[in-house]
Amino acid sequence: MSSRTYRIAPSILSADFARLGEEVRDVIAGGADWIHFDVMDNHYVPNLTFGPMICQALKPHARTADGAPVPVDVHLMVEPVDALAAAFADAGADYVSFHPEASRHVHRSIQAIRSKGVKAGLVFNPGTPLDVLDWTIDDLDLVLVMSVNPGFGGQSFIDSALRKIEQLRARIDASGKDIRLEVDGGIKGDNIARVAAAGADTFVAGSAIFGKSDYRAVIDGMRAALAG
Ligand code: DX5
Ligand code: ZN
Repeated sequence: MSSRTYRIAPSILSADFARLGEEVRDVIAGGADWIHFDVMDNHYVPNLTFGPMICQALKPHARTADGAPVPVDVHLMVEPVDALAAAFADAGADYVSFHPEASRHVHRSIQAIRSKGVKAGLVFNPGTPLDVLDWTIDDLDLVLVMSVNPGFGGQSFIDSALRKIEQLRARIDASGKDIRLEVDGGIKGDNIARVAAAGADTFVAGSAIFGKSDYRAVIDGMRAALAG
């Protein structure tokens, strides 16, 4: 599908936390399409990051130089889901995604996110099957495939994610819905084209972008790889 619009979503998990607003502005100036916001609770995953107050503080920075809003893509790695999902919707998230195993009532959590006017996503770990989509795909705006186990940046891409992405691409196309297929973990300039060929359209990258000083150069390199 050559008409697919690709999105690059830098994860601020690998940004300099002492200068987060500036980092968000700089990575947008470098060409970021979305800002990916990794929320970890030291319960669902063994790490702890940031909450809705930081999302709210960063929201005004999620704009291009000429003022166009840049979507804030919140990836919840928290259990339970619902209270924080609502708090992030109120804090300005444009997308809120969660792991289905972290919610007792997955469909209700999706409804609750959408009732706030926010786009909803489900996230699949490397070991998680896609069955829950049988009864939820029509209500989703995004499906996120983890290509590492959640909790940390800088891990290596797990190749079985490619097969999962291929299956998902077929399911999304068959659904006829406008659902983004996002991939998260270990994405770099040298594997992004393979991930796109498998069917992904939205690419999270943390360490690959924030680990370099020239964000524009990394993002341009990813776009060139996608175009090639
Ligand atoms: C991991 C997070 C990722 C992380 C990716 O749990 O969901 O978004 O920031 O980092 P890299 O791109 O370094 O693998
Ligand atoms: Zn993430």
